[in-house]
Amino acid sequence: MIATPPVPALLPTYAPYPFPLARGEGDRVFDVQGQAWWDFYGGHCVCATGHSHPKVVRAIADQAASLLFYSAAAALPVRDQAAASITAFSNMDSVFFCNSGAEANENALKLTLLLTGRKRLAAFEGGWHGRTLLALSVTDDPKITEPFADQLTPCLRLPFGDLDALAAADFSDVAGVILEPIQSMAGIKTASRDWFRALRAKCDATGALLIFDEIQTGMGRLGTPFAAQFYGVRPDITTSAKGLASGVPMGALLMTAAVASRLKGGDLGSTFGGGPLACAALLATVDVISHEGLMPNAMAAAVRLRLELKGSVVTEVMGEGLLLGLRSAHSAALKKHLLAKHILLGGSGDPTVLRLMPPLNVSAEALTALISAVHAFQPESK
Ligand SMILES: Cc1ncc(COP(=O)(O)O)c(C=O)c1O
Repeated sequence: MIATPPVPALLPTYAPYPFPLARGEGDRVFDVQGQAWWDFYGGHCVCATGHSHPKVVRAIADQAASLLFYSAAAALPVRDQAAASITAFSNMDSVFFCNSGAEANENALKLTLLLTGRKRLAAFEGGWHGRTLLALSVTDDPKITEPFADQLTPCLRLPFGDLDALAAADFSDVAGVILEPIQSMAGIKTASRDWFRALRAKCDATGALLIFDEIQTGMGRLGTPFAAQFYGVRPDITTSAKGLASGVPMGALLMTAAVASRLKGGDLGSTFGGGPLACAALLATVDVISHEGLMPNAMAAAVRLRLELKGSVVTEVMGEGLLLGLRSAHSAALKKHLLAKHILLGGSGDPTVLRLMPPLNVSAEALTALISAVHAFQPESK
């Protein structure tokens, strides 16, 4: 008999940083030895309002002390306020709250199948939407999708941002089309406003429902509340998570009145979704993003990085606001160099692209640290 090997108590998922973290403050995190690190990674693009923003912390603490949890079996003023706040912020009409990005996308895709009666989905090359089965069906990442190939829903996959391919595609039996308005994992890929308009028009003409997966692009990250406002196109459904409640787990399906009015009670549901703690965190998050200049700061940071990284090993800055990709032929060595300078940032599916997704209130000091560290980098064969 083969002995079962010993396993760690915590199942490994990602390769973590080589130091455990103790706390965070604004745009920095501190390791257990008290050393500071500039955080341009934001815990997977989550920490939109910065680490432990005092207003968010206070809202969570106050809510925890008064009512930690009650499900949708009870109406809660804080949930109604959160719904009013996020629908106004996103310019959508109605919201269903859940707990994560994958759950939001799973429900959004399921709704398109339910509402259209069609059996096929559409998505884009390089798209990444989560690890549940419908979300996997539209995700273009063979290493996580292939083991489930037989269980996935058929998906038409088109090149992202390609007007000709869009014009030629047949959407007549497509229930829903999902996209990240800026493809993040794929290496910060953008598309033109013309392409977004053409996609909206094609969905209108064919009856396919348009879903914007704004799990990374939403909550002020591009300098507008959601990418829908940035690109000037209103989807039928927007999904949100990550920065939505500053790190308290929360997902949302934001929808137009045309979609919401066709749903009946029981079509969607969740025990934890819309819990008071997450709703209080969401309210504080929208307040901080709207009233502390985080969106203008995101835009200004992008302008500064584009300008001041010129002449460095970074040959192109892609993306918008604070969802940026730094292209460099030396990206792996650059990432290592930046880590040595106590700067955290992310890789991507493109080996030449590093990703920046810091808190939206990233400071001038943090940007200076990043810019000078990049300029100080000496690749062996530049
Ligand atoms: C664009 C996008 N969609 C969906 C997801 C899935 O979100 P979650 O990990 O909260 O399930 C992610 C996570 O990285 C994401 O980046």
